[in-house]
Amino acid sequence: MNIHESIQHYTGEINSINPVTPAELESFRIKYLGSKGVVRQLFEEFKNVSPDEKRLLGKILNEFKQYVENKYKAFQEQLTSSTSVQENEQKEDLTLPGEGFSLGSRHPLSLVHKEIVEIFKRMGFSVAEGPEIEDDWHNFSALNFPEEHPARDMQDTFFIKKQKDNDIALRTHTSSVQVRMMEMGKPPFRAIMPGRVYRNEAISARAHCFFHQVEGLYVAKEVSFADLKQTLFHFVQELFGEGTKVRFRPSYFPFTEPSAEMDISCTICKGAGCAMCKSSGWVEILGCGMVDPNVLENCKIDSKEYTGFAFGMGIERITNLKYVIKDLRLFSENDIRFLKQFETEIL
Ligand code: PHE
Repeated sequence: MNIHESIQHYTGEINSINPVTPAELESFRIKYLGSKGVVRQLFEEFKNVSPDEKRLLGKILNEFKQYVENKYKAFQEQLTSSTSVQENEQKEDLTLPGEGFSLGSRHPLSLVHKEIVEIFKRMGFSVAEGPEIEDDWHNFSALNFPEEHPARDMQDTFFIKKQKDNDIALRTHTSSVQVRMMEMGKPPFRAIMPGRVYRNEAISARAHCFFHQVEGLYVAKEVSFADLKQTLFHFVQELFGEGTKVRFRPSYFPFTEPSAEMDISCTICKGAGCAMCKSSGWVEILGCGMVDPNVLENCKIDSKEYTGFAFGMGIERITNLKYVIKDLRLFSENDIRFLKQFETEIL
C-alpha cells in the first residue's frame, strides 16, 4: 500500500470505530496518534516520497492527521459527557425511601384563639372583626372615656395622626369593634371580637407593644349580671376543665358599670401556690361588666329598653396559663424550636 492507499484504508477503519470506554479510547490514541502510531509511520514513509509527489501528498497527509486528531477529541468529549450521565444515574438509588417533608405547626396563640372562638360559638356568639387603625371615637369617646383619661395618654396609645376632634391611632383594645357593631346594627347583639391590639409599652418578658384580645358583647332585653357570670363560668369550665373555680372582684372600666375582673383558680398549681399565681392560688384572666348606658346611647341604642354585658381577655395570658410560657417575646420571635413544640394540624 502506498501512502495514498493507506490513508484511504485507515479513514474507512476509523469511521467504523466508536470507543465507548476510556480503555478503548486510549487504544485508539495509541494506535493512530501514538509515537509508533499510524500517523507517525505515514509521516516516516512520507520522507521517502519523490519531491514531485510531496506537494499533493503532503496536503492529504496533513488533512488526515487533522482528521484523526479531531476524531480523537470528539470521542473524548463524547466519553466524558456520557460518563457523567452514567455517574448521575448511579447516584440516584431508586430503592431509597422518599424524602419526607416536615409540616408546620400551629402557633400557640392561634390554637388558643381557635379554642376560645369555638367555645363561644357553641353558646351562640358570632365573630366580628374591625380595623386595627381606629379613630378616637371608636376606641375611646364612644366607650365613655372621659376627655382627660390617662389611657388616651401618649404613654399607652400609638397615635398615627393628631386631629382636632378625632385622633387616629392603633386600637388599644377590640372594644372598638363593639362600638362599630352596635352603631351599624340593631340589638340583639351576641358576638365576640378577636384581634390584635397595640399599646405603647417597653418590650420585656412580661409586656409587649402588641398582643391579642378576645372581647365579647351581649346586648338584648333583660340581660343581667347573672347572665354574664354564668356565660363566663361556662367558658372557663370548657377551656380549663370542669371544677375550675372563678371569682369576681369589683373593678373599673369607663365603658361598663358595674365592672369586675375575673380570676380563676390557678391552673398550674391548682391553688397550692406557685410563681404564676404569686402564691395566691388565683390568676386574673379578664375584665368584664354591664355595658354602661352611656355607651349604648352613644351607639343610638335605647338604654331603657336594652341592657348588655361585655368582657375582654388577652389571648397571650390564657396561652401562658395553658402552656406555661414565661417570656411573652417568644410569641413573636418565630423561633422554630419554640413553635414546633405545638400541635400540628393537617387541614
Ligand atoms: N377593653 C378592656 C381592656 O382592653 C377589657 C374589657 C372589655 C373590660 C369589656 C370590660 C368589658 O382592658
